[in-house]
Amino acid sequence: MSEKYLYIETYGCQMNDYDSERIKNVIGIPETKDPSKADIIIINTCAIRAKADQKALSSLGKFKNLKKNNPNLIVGMTGCVAQLYGKKLLSNAPHLDFVLGPRSIPKLPEIINNIEIEKTRIVETSYDVEEPFEIMPYHDKGKVTSFLSIQQGCNKTCTYCIVPTVRGKEINRPADDILLEANYLIQKGVKEITLIGQTVNSWKSNGLKFSDLLNLVGELESLERIRFTTSYPRDCTKKLIKAMKTNPKVCSHIHLPVQSGSNNILSKMNRTYTSQWYLDVVNRLKDEIADMAVSSDIIVGFPGETEKDFEQTLKLIEEVEFDTCFSFKYSPRPGTPAAVMENFIDSDIAGKRLSILQEFQRKITYKKNEERAGKIEEVLVEGISKNDPENLMGRTSQNRIVNFAAKNNLVGRLVNVKINNGFQNSLLGTII
Ligand code: 5AD
Repeated sequence: MSEKYLYIETYGCQMNDYDSERIKNVIGIPETKDPSKADIIIINTCAIRAKADQKALSSLGKFKNLKKNNPNLIVGMTGCVAQLYGKKLLSNAPHLDFVLGPRSIPKLPEIINNIEIEKTRIVETSYDVEEPFEIMPYHDKGKVTSFLSIQQGCNKTCTYCIVPTVRGKEINRPADDILLEANYLIQKGVKEITLIGQTVNSWKSNGLKFSDLLNLVGELESLERIRFTTSYPRDCTKKLIKAMKTNPKVCSHIHLPVQSGSNNILSKMNRTYTSQWYLDVVNRLKDEIADMAVSSDIIVGFPGETEKDFEQTLKLIEEVEFDTCFSFKYSPRPGTPAAVMENFIDSDIAGKRLSILQEFQRKITYKKNEERAGKIEEVLVEGISKNDPENLMGRTSQNRIVNFAAKNNLVGRLVNVKINNGFQNSLLGTII
């Protein structure tokens, strides 16, 4: 029998990247980048905004002909769109063999086996998986940085968000299990671990808090750096700030989505803090931790957002001076409370606000990058630079990309680089 191949397409957040690696590991056949050579095709989808789930559905359409020509081909959809639409997907796409929610990845071998033997079509979107973290990702050797999932699902109730619907209630992975995977990664040569979870800093398990976990991971030898994402502002405790400050491996960067600068909108979003409260947390972080970088997510055009609300968001951006900020036009998601709110914002108006905001932030990011010129930065070298094969690429503790000329054997090492120029998305320097 000839060897079988898996083709997988991944959309969305770090969680999905991580899940795709788990899928590769649990299926256990080599990957191909060419769908026409595949025996199993999987689309791992994202439902965060309407655009993302449309992408997932149109991606599915691409594989119709392959299935027609090869009835033994197995086509599956996993991830958040799979969870959201469930069996409706099977009736809409006759060439789809299975639909599997994000919690059910450990059940994948059994499902594929059943399809092969019984030629059935399967929908698995229940949350009754005993060991949701059972399957580790397929971790490549030679990687300098890696994600490590410490939490699935989300217990927050933000009115715009589909995540709690499609990923279920928060479950926290036990510390021992996290340390086991961390050690495994370190043995493979990983130097920087990014702990991931939907609200990663709300992690708790057996009496331990997230700050304790940072310290436990910090004790692992040969690990140089720890990052974590995404943080929920209300769970940014003094204990956490202290752990970040005292643990030298924890990077000086936090991704802390604010979503809006208007208290009126924050309240409608049910974010459970005010803009002043958010500013206080950011100021505490910046006061306590030298050279602290803060990035954020913002939604514009939330139902009822007035010009004044929008201006308050710009004012908050000006005050914090985010290092980077991802911003999105509000997109109603089925079944969420915000989708049935009044005073929807006209798409053109929301679009205009989005461009104003993005232009405003672009200037701040550029200015902050330019200010690094002349400074010496510690950089963890990740690999060859994308734009110039003569250069290496790495990141500073603040998560800025640095390109610099050097010899290849520095990959995986911490080096000092003198910054010569700051650009919009990266810095250019000389190794010293
Ligand atoms: N519409 C637009 N943006 C959204 N996000 C989450 N839900 C929505 C939505 N319905 C954004 C938030 C979140 C990021 C991952 O996506 O800013 O932090």
